[in-house]
Amino acid sequence: MRLLPSLGICLALGGAWLKAVEAKSATGDRVLVLVPTTEAAKQYTHFLGTLETRGFDVSVRAASNSSVALHLDGERLYDHAVLLSPAAKKFGSDLTAHNFIQFVSDGGNLLVAASSELSDFHRKLGAQFGVEFEKRGSRAIDHVSHLSENDSDDHSVFAAHRFFGVPAVLPSTFGGKDPGTVLYKGIAHKYEAKNPLLVPVLVGSTTTYSGNVAMGGDSDNKALSPMDTPLSGKALGLVSVFQTRSNARVAFSGSTELFSDSLMKKRGSSNTQFVAEVSKWVLQEKSVLRETGHRHHLLSTGEKPEYYRIGNEMVYEIDLSVYHDDAWHPYVANDVQFEAIMLDPYVRLTLNHTLSTDSKSPLATYRGDIKLPDRYGTFTFRVNYKRTGYSNVDVKDTVAIWPLRHDEYPRFLTAAYPYYTSSFVMIIGFLALSTAWLWNAEPRAKANVKDEGKTKTKPKPKQSATSKPKSN
Ligand SMILES: *[C@@H]1O[C@H](CO)[C@@H](O)[C@H](O)[C@H]1NC(C)=O
Ligand SMILES: *[C@@H]1O[C@H](CO)[C@@H](O)[C@H](O)[C@H]1NC(C)=O
Ligand SMILES: *[C@@H]1O[C@H](CO)[C@@H](O)[C@H](O)[C@H]1NC(C)=O
Repeated sequence: MRLLPSLGICLALGGAWLKAVEAKSATGDRVLVLVPTTEAAKQYTHFLGTLETRGFDVSVRAASNSSVALHLDGERLYDHAVLLSPAAKKFGSDLTAHNFIQFVSDGGNLLVAASSELSDFHRKLGAQFGVEFEKRGSRAIDHVSHLSENDSDDHSVFAAHRFFGVPAVLPSTFGGKDPGTVLYKGIAHKYEAKNPLLVPVLVGSTTTYSGNVAMGGDSDNKALSPMDTPLSGKALGLVSVFQTRSNARVAFSGSTELFSDSLMKKRGSSNTQFVAEVSKWVLQEKSVLRETGHRHHLLSTGEKPEYYRIGNEMVYEIDLSVYHDDAWHPYVANDVQFEAIMLDPYVRLTLNHTLSTDSKSPLATYRGDIKLPDRYGTFTFRVNYKRTGYSNVDVKDTVAIWPLRHDEYPRFLTAAYPYYTSSFVMIIGFLALSTAWLWNAEPRAKANVKDEGKTKTKPKPKQSATSKPKSN
């Protein structure tokens, strides 16, 4: 009797495991999609359909449905949330912007689409991530690349084609030689350009500006003070993405229409590809980086010692993989750096990568042959790899570096050879001089006596010889 429930648990766990393997996202497959009404979800059949074919378990709920919750007993109920309900002031029973931020802090990913009718909720949420939406009722407008054949139209549906070069988010085919065209209708936002975690993906062209459509032509005629200069060009954000330090991902789009079937179907529209790329990034289906192992040991013995001595030659290795297209692949880059830090980095060098001979291996191994500094103390060996669009990798090891024992110092130093030579030269010189002096002492003494005798006799004729010309 006891067997049956445990068998059931086994099956359930097995099922969950199988599902986790099937999922294309590296972090989970449960997606919550919040729409104004379940009817409204029909505008997004294509987008929601692709999520399902990509292996997600999609739950579409009305924003006002009071049974919608993000957490249960402190655990996340979903891995990803997609907000397609810009006008909603309240989500679920009583979900505030704070709950969604908590969701992101817990590792959930968030895709937020807004529109000209956006609520304060969205404004607050955006502000937390450095995204400042324009005034309610305003729209991004482009009088050059608009779609309408009718000039009296408001030109708020336009083709955006200025992409930011973030290959980890958008492949280089976007914004390359043959730029894609994303059809856009919605509100613009200001993005914090100095925020390293926030990256604009799609921005306004030189002819795009943010204007108030509700006021019609009046707003254009009104004299604008320099402070009121409307947001325009590159500073005008349309779609921006944010990655937290804990690798959760958030995307903000000022347009819900971007995800709609109607704009995806229009001729010349790259919305399908654009939405696919951005959503794959947000839902952790690509550019997910991870460290699968790291080790360090002495170069000479190949063993990992309890502690290193100053100046030891050591080897540091780290394995990195990147996730995309449903599998882990070796991550190959030329800018992975190692640091040995004690308050300041004492060693910082770029590691060399080698690929495994097994072509199926998802690992790229980075290796560095490192000479430890001539400084003892507690060091941190660190690989802190942060690149735009990729998950952060930060690996730390605390290692003790000891000074040499008294008998471990080298007997002779190459640098000191001139000094060794000079002392030997001194000794030899001293010996040579002493010998020469000692050996020559007696004959010199005799010579001196002879000289004395000579000087007594010789100077007299000399003096007379020299005095003679004077007297003459
Ligand atoms: C509200 O959500 C629950 C699941 O959380 C679902 O069963 C129910 O049908 C939804 N109600 C409406 C009106 O959509
Ligand atoms: C242009 O707009 C006017 C006024 O809104 C409308 O009457 C006309 O049918 C529109 N023309 C086209 C080609 O859409
Ligand atoms: C990387 O490889 C080059 C060439 O083999 C070598 O000179 C260099 O020292 C290596 N760098 C590290 C950090 O080991």
